Amino acid sequence: MTGSFDNPGRVCFITGASSGLGEGLAIRLVREGYAVGLSARREALLSKVADRIRAEGGTAAVYPCDASDGPAVIDAIRRCEDTLGPVDLLVANAGMSLNTLIEAFDASGVEKVLDVNLLGAVYATEAVLAGMLERGRGQIVAVSSIAGFAGLPMSAAYSASKGGMTNFFESLRIDLRGTGVDVTVIHPGFVRTPMTAHNRHAMPFIMDLEPAVELMVKAIRKRKKSLAFPWQLAGLVWSLRILPRPAYDWIASRIDRTKAPEAGGPTGQSS
Ligand SMILES: NC(=O)c1ccc[n+]([C@@H]2O[C@H](COP(=O)([O-])OP(=O)(O)OC[C@H]3O[C@@H](n4cnc5c(N)ncnc54)[C@H](OP(=O)(O)O)[C@@H]3O)[C@@H](O)[C@H]2O)c1
Repeated sequence: MTGSFDNPGRVCFITGASSGLGEGLAIRLVREGYAVGLSARREALLSKVADRIRAEGGTAAVYPCDASDGPAVIDAIRRCEDTLGPVDLLVANAGMSLNTLIEAFDASGVEKVLDVNLLGAVYATEAVLAGMLERGRGQIVAVSSIAGFAGLPMSAAYSASKGGMTNFFESLRIDLRGTGVDVTVIHPGFVRTPMTAHNRHAMPFIMDLEPAVELMVKAIRKRKKSLAFPWQLAGLVWSLRILPRPAYDWIASRIDRTKAPEAGGPTGQSS
């Protein structure tokens, strides 16, 4: 097991580690020298990831819980710290995507997306922040999305959750200046994971999992403040942002609504 940066004995807690980006990050961060605490709801999948890590000579332990259950998240991180040691790196990655369709508007769906994506990351932060401040070192990585840069059609809940996440962790990053605790906010575009597997709409500049994870690990290693990738999609969405609103609305409304999954379905538009 070789790492391109040296973190012997350091501990990373990753939420949403049972599949996709979280699973990829867990495996990759172990190769960087971290012992990893893996969390998500599906314990069997977490155990498979942990077995793979152990087979490669790494250290992993699983802490199943629902990211939207604050006390459960805090308890999971406490148990991880009891077993593996203080968390040096938190990767708040757990997330869900659900289309918000005006025809079937349902506040409870919005609430669920905000609970998992935004508050889930906040609960995990509560669990690690005091310890990091006491030790004068640590890093919190928030996996937001390019969807947080603008209100995307049929994605009101998802865009709100990711926009909220970006702004929340940006605020924290400023407040934590000089404390030794760094915050990295990551905005992926479309990546091939289970979350995007059922999307029927166009996913411009979609990336494979491995190069996406590499970019994320590089940003974590450099303790970058922010990363948005791929640059083509990030640039496109940023430039749409500065257009006059009528022009933005016209372009954004070109997305084919007939290709949205059923409201309440397991997946939806994500980026
Ligand atoms: N793929 C993309 O194109 C893309 C683009 C931008 C941002 N992102 C963000 O990247 C993160 C990872 O997504 P992914 O693409 O890797 O999708 P994924 O494979 O579906 O992974 C989502 C992870 O979140 C966990 N999760 C979902 N709901 C949860 C809950 N209530 N409690 C605890 N864990 C929960 C899932 O585990 P369980 O189901 O086992 O709980 C899973 O491990 C998400 O925050 C997503 O919004 C993805």
